[in-house]
Amino acid sequence: MNDICQMKIQEVNFVKSSKSISQCPEPKLPEFAFVGRSNVGKSSLINKLMDRKALAKVSSVPGKTQLINHFEVNKTWYLVDLPGYGWAKVGEKMRTEWEKNINNYLIHRENLECIFVLVDSRHDPQAIDVDFMEWLAQNDLPFIVVFTKADKLSTNQLQSSLARYKKIMKLYWEEMPQFMCTSSDTGFGTEELLGLINKMIQEVK
Ligand code: GTP
Ligand code: MG
Repeated sequence: MNDICQMKIQEVNFVKSSKSISQCPEPKLPEFAFVGRSNVGKSSLINKLMDRKALAKVSSVPGKTQLINHFEVNKTWYLVDLPGYGWAKVGEKMRTEWEKNINNYLIHRENLECIFVLVDSRHDPQAIDVDFMEWLAQNDLPFIVVFTKADKLSTNQLQSSLARYKKIMKLYWEEMPQFMCTSSDTGFGTEELLGLINKMIQEVK
């Protein structure tokens, strides 16, 4: 990675939590959203990226994050922590309501540059994740697949997990999305991820 891509986190401010797009902050900065199944590690990864212990709420109980949470970073971009999908304990009606709000946000948020779709590196591709990625592709929404909890696997296991995922996706996808691996425990992959965000911000300018 060259120097220009590296990003130092100087300032992070929580802006607000919104139930739907209409309540979100003015779309004045490039925005990057973190989405994925409940408990996949979105909030943990955000805290690690920002080098803050408790910026985003972490919990072993799925469904901790329930709103669209905006953080302003270095006064130059927005980072968004989204509620996890596929949380079994939420009633059907509430789940649909959430999905409507999140889908609406993803489709209509004009400053949204990229969506990071988090998946647990230990698991085979799950229909709910692949369906979601397909929905993103159908709606022309740019995304990157981020493997989480890489510290729970050996390097070999991680590589074979990645290969397995790509192999299955190749059956359905003509073009592969970009993949990367991370761990919120060790910080593995966080510099690379921030570098990608930085690069995309430079391209917007
Ligand atoms: P929701 O807000 O419920 O959608 O969950 P989330 O995706 O934000 O997950 P969260 O960050 O709250 O993490 C869920 C659990 O996984 C917590 O117990 C974390 O400590 C654990 N966890 C998250 N990331 C990692 C990781 O990289 N390594 C390990 N070992 N554990 C992790
Ligand atoms: Mg969360």
